[in-house]
Amino acid sequence: MKVTVVGAGAVGASCAEYIAIKDFASEVVLLDIKEGYAEGKAMDLMQTASLNGFDTKITGTTGDYSKTAGSDIAVITSGIPRKPGMTREELIGINAGIVKTVSSSLIEHSPNAIIIVVSNPMDTMTYLVHKTTDLPKNRIIGMGGALDSARFKYRLAEALGAPISDVDGMVIGGHSDKGMVPLTRLATRNSVPVSEFISNDRLEQVAADTKVGGATLTKLLGTSAWYAPGAAVSGLVQAIACDQKKIFPCSTLLEGEYGLNDLCIGTPVVLGRNGIEKIVEIELSDAEKAKLAESAEGVKKTNGLLEL
Ligand code: NAI
Repeated sequence: MKVTVVGAGAVGASCAEYIAIKDFASEVVLLDIKEGYAEGKAMDLMQTASLNGFDTKITGTTGDYSKTAGSDIAVITSGIPRKPGMTREELIGINAGIVKTVSSSLIEHSPNAIIIVVSNPMDTMTYLVHKTTDLPKNRIIGMGGALDSARFKYRLAEALGAPISDVDGMVIGGHSDKGMVPLTRLATRNSVPVSEFISNDRLEQVAADTKVGGATLTKLLGTSAWYAPGAAVSGLVQAIACDQKKIFPCSTLLEGEYGLNDLCIGTPVVLGRNGIEKIVEIELSDAEKAKLAESAEGVKKTNGLLEL
């Protein structure tokens, strides 16, 4: 199993590290345009192999796509991250150009690869890959909901005073501060609805904190986060590589599901060796449907900024 990660920055390197530590891939290739950067990150990570006990071979290259040839999975993290006070949507001008060239170079060398898009604004970048390549929809996956759901579970556990492993919850919708739809009604603690343990007001606060999860970290760090994004990407890569058939909320092209068309937005999907093997349509309440529709409007507005 060969995995390429384009962009050896904060998220790309963290993602490569988690993939290596989980030890399911034979090879991870890091590619960056900054001279020597990917090679340096790869060498540093390889020097953790004996310490962390993995056999995955990590190599780096400055822009040589022939080194990525025959990749089974390719992750796109190249582009600029937001600074404090910025929205993800403001990154579109620079990142759209990068994602378009990177995806076409990746496919030229790995025509069978499954592409995972991470660069922001992620739902729009995922849509851009659909619009500018011939890949079937099951092989284009946007990562956002897996991260947002992890942040939701963190906030839920905090509010409940419960261990995170006892808590379950999912965030669907667009990967933006306004567009996320944390499904509070379906969140559980050991299969019991969380509303049994905390007030509705507290639950609404959990949802609000989840939605600004990325912005909160950007303010603290001065740039956007990387550990949880990297771990979230590695989870998707592992589900595909190991054919796990796990369900994650991912950005995928909708063609009528949830009453939505012609956009990529976060919905639960089954991930296996063929990428997105099924879009799962869960029964939403009227209020949740309205929030998802509003989120879709926001994503479509950002998609409208693309020069296609
Ligand atoms: P970073 O600045 O640390 O790394 C980006 C890397 O991309 C840099 O090393 C840069 O040299 C490289 N790069 C730029 N243009 C390139 C090109 N044409 N080819 C190859 N490499 C290129 O940024 P960071 O923090 O790793 O974030 C990367 C992207 O991921 C940002 O757009 C950020 O907003 C997004 N992100 C998305 C998340 C999600 O949940 N979807 C979560 C966190 C970040």
